[in-house]
Amino acid sequence: MTPLRFNEKKFERQTVVVSGRRVTYRAFLDLDYLMMPVAEEQRLNVFVPEPYFNQGRVNGYSRVTAPIFMPNTVGGYLPGPRDFPGNSAPFSRGATILQALARGYVVVSAGVRGRTTQNGGEFVGKAPAFIVDLKAAIRYVKFNAGWIPGDTEKIITNGTSAGGAASALAGASGNADFFATPLAELGAVPATDDVFAVSTYCPISDLEHADAAYEWQFNGLNTWHSQQLTRVGDRMQVTPVAGKLTAKEQALSDQVKATFPAYVNSLHLQNDQKAPLTLDEQGQGPFQQAIINELKWSAQQALDAGDDVTTQRGLTIQAGYVTQLDWRQYLRGLTRQKSVPAFDALDLSSPETSLFGSRLFAAGHFTSFAQKHSTVAARQADPDLVAAVNPVSYLQTNQSQVAQHWRIRHGASDRETSFAIPFILATLLKNQGRDVDLAFPWGRPHDGDYDLPGLFDWIDHICQ
Ligand code: DHB
Repeated sequence: MTPLRFNEKKFERQTVVVSGRRVTYRAFLDLDYLMMPVAEEQRLNVFVPEPYFNQGRVNGYSRVTAPIFMPNTVGGYLPGPRDFPGNSAPFSRGATILQALARGYVVVSAGVRGRTTQNGGEFVGKAPAFIVDLKAAIRYVKFNAGWIPGDTEKIITNGTSAGGAASALAGASGNADFFATPLAELGAVPATDDVFAVSTYCPISDLEHADAAYEWQFNGLNTWHSQQLTRVGDRMQVTPVAGKLTAKEQALSDQVKATFPAYVNSLHLQNDQKAPLTLDEQGQGPFQQAIINELKWSAQQALDAGDDVTTQRGLTIQAGYVTQLDWRQYLRGLTRQKSVPAFDALDLSSPETSLFGSRLFAAGHFTSFAQKHSTVAARQADPDLVAAVNPVSYLQTNQSQVAQHWRIRHGASDRETSFAIPFILATLLKNQGRDVDLAFPWGRPHDGDYDLPGLFDWIDHICQ
């Protein structure tokens, strides 16, 4: 048998009740997707609706036409273990997998390395490991076209937060040269790794510009309100923490913020009427107004659905219409979550600095600004590497095969990265003729998969 060939004879049959309906599927567990893996995470699970093995159909799909849904469990750029239906562990997407099977999708859950993964005392999961593994898993699926059930030309990646960033990066960087060597070193199968569509919730991406975007949004708000997560058995316990920006941090905020307009303007973004979405030196202009309009639209949708939108600050409502959203008031109501810089922490304490460590170093900076102002002895990651794990890079120069369909969600109450981050991604994609469904669901904090019926309707729409 060819190595890494999918074997449909080795499975467990499982049945669960989903929303009152019995769903039977075959589980193919713990499959290698690399010839030379270096970490336990590098395996995947495949789940297939049982009817596909008996000439049956589910939701109009057959064994050969079913979309292949690939949710990842990456959170905080930590290792994202392979997942299974009903898994209730933190960061698991067990409920999503069950709902996807009920809709007739083939589900492939690949485990991927993360920033804390070690082998023999060395870190082996720093960037770009998470995306190398996700690509290797996608290649495994495409290499097995005709063996693995489902349509390998209809792969949809899905993830939330750092996992949303991984999903978006997979969609933007299809077949990019940068990954050829690391994929070959691990013994990835010969196949392409471009995908059909991307579902991403609150992607923590464009990391080298995320600090500037954050200060563009929150500069002037000098108290941060965050939460400490501690694992208690199977659950995460949440404790609120708060702090004030020092005078030095406030000065850094001004400096970082000042770099954002030039970045936005360099992207040459346009709205649907082809008008430029720019910012002036103060950080105001049509780019900001376009984001405000997205938030107003979101509030209007919630208002129309009968929600009380006045629990958020800054809205003016007249005769059933959201007529204004006062940006400053709205953000004051949300509050700042992170300190300065929000991502490239000067003491190397953030998840993102940990992502940009190396085999021997736990963490590194990824912007020259933080490197220059670092409060600890630190190295700066290679800018080519930083760019290679940023989906936006692939939309600026033509170096990859970009997914055609994108569904991007970022809660209107999410403070973990600036609204500008998903907005820039969506706008670049739209400007390049991709099919983009962007929304900022009203009142939603940092979260994902909260609207699965909507997500799956979208998948059916693009696949059927
Ligand atoms: C995640 C959240 C963050 O605020 C961050 O900086 C990185 C990752 C996450 O939930 O995955």
